[in-house]
Amino acid sequence: MKILITEKIAADSVQYLLDRGLQVDERLGLSQAEIEDIVEPYDALIVRSVTKVNKDLLSRAKNMKVVGRAGNGIDNIDVATCTEKGIIAVNTPEANIMAAGELAVGLAFAIFRNICYANEASRRDDFRRGRMIGNELEGKTVGIIGLGRIGSIVARKLKGIGMEVIAYDPYISTEKFERVGAKKCPTLEELLVASDLISFHTPKTKETYNMIDAPELAKCKKGVRIVNAARGGLVNETALYEALKSGQVASAAIDVFDKEPSYDKEPGVQKYSHPLLELPNFVYTPHLGASSHEANHNVGTAVTELVAKALEGELVAAINMPSCSGNMSILKPYASLCEKLGRIYFQAEKTPVKRIEICYRGELADQETGVLTLSVLKGFLSSLSSERVSFVNVRKAVEDRGIEVVESKTTHIKRYNNLVNLKFLTEDDRELSLNGTVFGVGTEVLVTFFGYQMNFELAPMVIAMQNEDVPGIIGKVATLLGEHDINIASMHWGRKPGSGKAQSFIAIDQPVPEEMVDSFTSIPGVLRFTQLDFT
Ligand code: NAD
Ligand code: MLT
Repeated sequence: MKILITEKIAADSVQYLLDRGLQVDERLGLSQAEIEDIVEPYDALIVRSVTKVNKDLLSRAKNMKVVGRAGNGIDNIDVATCTEKGIIAVNTPEANIMAAGELAVGLAFAIFRNICYANEASRRDDFRRGRMIGNELEGKTVGIIGLGRIGSIVARKLKGIGMEVIAYDPYISTEKFERVGAKKCPTLEELLVASDLISFHTPKTKETYNMIDAPELAKCKKGVRIVNAARGGLVNETALYEALKSGQVASAAIDVFDKEPSYDKEPGVQKYSHPLLELPNFVYTPHLGASSHEANHNVGTAVTELVAKALEGELVAAINMPSCSGNMSILKPYASLCEKLGRIYFQAEKTPVKRIEICYRGELADQETGVLTLSVLKGFLSSLSSERVSFVNVRKAVEDRGIEVVESKTTHIKRYNNLVNLKFLTEDDRELSLNGTVFGVGTEVLVTFFGYQMNFELAPMVIAMQNEDVPGIIGKVATLLGEHDINIASMHWGRKPGSGKAQSFIAIDQPVPEEMVDSFTSIPGVLRFTQLDFT
């Protein structure tokens, strides 16, 4: 599998991918067009905030299975198009929040005390400190816009140095404001008129882009200070420029411009200029929020682990995977079982299905089982679909085939702690049912198979054979397998009382070649002979 990395991530995390046998191409500093030109053969792409993983790029990424965003914001990822194409999108929302929060606080100190200006002036032999007098933060009011992960860190730190903290965030509970110790502003305007410092911590959305423009700046206290270490364009840059020149805004610090420079090019190689960079009361850092060694390590490790696991087909908490909020240590073994149960149907049957009913019984009924249903559906479609089907688009792919998916839960159960029950309602109105469970830490057991009682531990390759319930048949099958040099790992028999038929499951070490299947089906008494591949 080939992974393309277009922006710098920590070296130890690249090594992690190489150690897993993955081929990694680190191509830093390419233009968007250059990335689009080379992206086709790659199975995964790892980016930070500069590469735009948009429709154009994704339409060229014919082999793409996973997009990893090494960082927090996902405004440079077209998640909807990823989902449409079955591409898993992952990010690392927690890994750099401390770094970003600390930078915002650092920028606040820098602009209140003119630290950057003083440093820069001193290097020009200008030591006139009377021109560098700032203000103290203690006792002033900071207005936090967006009281999420980073906003809360900034609120707590600035409260710690004696600022009064107020916040505007219409999407969180009042309890969250109380927990953070921030006074809730019901409207943005209330925050604007009361703040000595405004710090942005929202994502970039249609609603937040330019949310502070000239009219909003005019409502602020004269001499307000502004920090934006979230996303470029939350404060309109032209309006900010004018307000900095007029003194309406005393000083501002920005880590993120609306249009960002390349962060990899040597000085002089790119032509980048910005009017704000000409103002003495303006501080800029080139998107340094996440640039601490700690965050680099955390982000790199987290994204490469997620990408590698997703490429290996493991269930990961993807941005575009519905409802992954259950207890994964409980759910993971069942997700694997569910995928295998789902895979059985089209390996054993040909009739189209009009409805799949999935019932989670026992302790599973208390869990958020969305991922288990997706696992069943992924297994169900795996032998059918030529399009790429992954956890992110499988439900739609099944429903697009006109198949209804019905889920239910019950804590009522006998003999087992948990049971997953699948019922396939076929177009000729038969109901075929499978039950499975997991014992211990991962022993996946088929408990019933289309009406037959079983107790069969699922193995990578299995023969499922229906035969007349008479002596001698298994012996003949085992002998024939031996003659073909196919080793038997385990066997199990189940009966459907009163049917006169038996169902045998035989785990084998390698598949029976297609051309030899007839020699098994022609054994007298063998009614059906199906190979189930769970590899
Ligand atoms: P988060 O999702 O935890 O918090 C965002 C908060 O913004 C949420 O509480 C949400 O309710 C609130 N919000 C959304 N729309 C709003 C609106 N219209 N008005 C007010 N509040 C609104 O996100 P986070 O992890 O705290 O990240 C915050 C920002 O920081 C993001 O834009 C992220 O991309 C950015 N970030 C930047 C850097 C950097 O290097 N500069 C590093 C990490 C994160
Ligand atoms: C993020 O959203 O994580 C930051 O913007 C940092 C980055 O991408 O470099």
